Amino acid sequence: MKMAPIEGFSKLTKEEKIDWISTKYTDNSKETKATIKRYWNSDEELQKLHDEFIENTITNFYLPLGIAPNFLINDKLFAIPMAIEESSVVAAASKAAKFWLHRGGFKTEVLGTEKIGQVHFMYKGDSQKLETFFKGIKSKLLEETIPITKNMTKRGGGITDILLRNKSKELKDYYQLHCTFETLDAMGANFINSCLEQLALTLKKEALKYSGFSEEEKDIEIVMSILSNYVPNCLVRAEVSCPVNDLKEGNEVSALEFAEKMVRAVDIAKVEPYRAVTHNKGIMNGIDAVVLATGNDFRAVEAGIHAYASKDGQYTSLTHATIEDGIFRFWIEVPLALGTVGGLTSLHPLAKMALDILDRPSAKELMQLVAVAGLAQNFAAVRSLVTTGIQQGHMKMHLMNILNQMQATEAEKNTLVHHFKKNTVTHNAVVEAMQVLRKGQ
Ligand code: MEV
Repeated sequence: MKMAPIEGFSKLTKEEKIDWISTKYTDNSKETKATIKRYWNSDEELQKLHDEFIENTITNFYLPLGIAPNFLINDKLFAIPMAIEESSVVAAASKAAKFWLHRGGFKTEVLGTEKIGQVHFMYKGDSQKLETFFKGIKSKLLEETIPITKNMTKRGGGITDILLRNKSKELKDYYQLHCTFETLDAMGANFINSCLEQLALTLKKEALKYSGFSEEEKDIEIVMSILSNYVPNCLVRAEVSCPVNDLKEGNEVSALEFAEKMVRAVDIAKVEPYRAVTHNKGIMNGIDAVVLATGNDFRAVEAGIHAYASKDGQYTSLTHATIEDGIFRFWIEVPLALGTVGGLTSLHPLAKMALDILDRPSAKELMQLVAVAGLAQNFAAVRSLVTTGIQQGHMKMHLMNILNQMQATEAEKNTLVHHFKKNTVTHNAVVEAMQVLRKGQ
């Protein structure tokens, strides 16, 4: 290993990059190269497509793509594709889907689709004058974005409003153009950012010409123009409900006791941030997996959702549960800025296929499907937590990972999976069972 900086790495060929990284940054370059190449796709065209998604690609990083079937959503059946590495997630989603399949399924509603972007700028002067200037140029601001917005406007979207916000109390001389957008089936990041950059140009240009400003006031400094991933008005709600008595399954606890335990667990996540973060992490297991499978930006979704979870000043649960008049109700409200056209959604063959499996949803429909995946995941996790405990299910699913680590043969896997149907899975228990099995062979 001979770690070293490098100039012009991006200009090297793929082979040269692999050569460089494996010799300079690993001790076993032969093995590194072999691993890198093992994950290349033999379909050269497909490999090239993936190579070109990002810069400096050397290979592919696989995640399993699983299917969680039996989701009844607004009376229509879905099988939800999920891309995720965590062993118990798809199983948990499937279990929750099946549970609610016989209890009316999931009901969803989109509460808003507003996206947001801001031009952040500094203005040294009289804020009243800026307000007057802004009112005078607002139509010009919109007019000069028409080349960018005209197609979106034709389809019913575009810039819905521009507000001037005075933030100079929070930060000296700081103001914003706070813009709202309707981007229809596109996630809209490129559209929004292009609009914002044009708005910034017009703002700067018009300020320089404005006779009402002093020389200093004319010199508006544009700091940056960028969409916000905080989209509290791009909101979706998903819900399940049933009479408490219908919750009965298995013999562990009574239906009412189970319902009360669920409500209490959610209430704890509402008041205790340490629990809320983990509670919401379970929700994100479902949300991220579908967001990823459909070629959407899970980092944007994560950032926006966690901000939403702390909108009232304390980080809290994204799900809610109540028992009222004998009815158990469990629901989620989350902001989701998603797209079903553009970006990777049609470019990545698996994302395209995932959207096909979901019956080619609009962005609004995808918001509902993703929210359901999050709610289902949370229901499954909290249900396990308040009944059997989480480890029973987790370790059952993790068993295959442990067996693979031990390089178990197919026959060994079959025997041990059978054995652990009746025995508790722990890492030690698996090692010991394997030793016994291998000794006996
Ligand atoms: C694990 O990935 C997710 C859980 O921790 C979620 C939760 O605690 O609610 C099981």
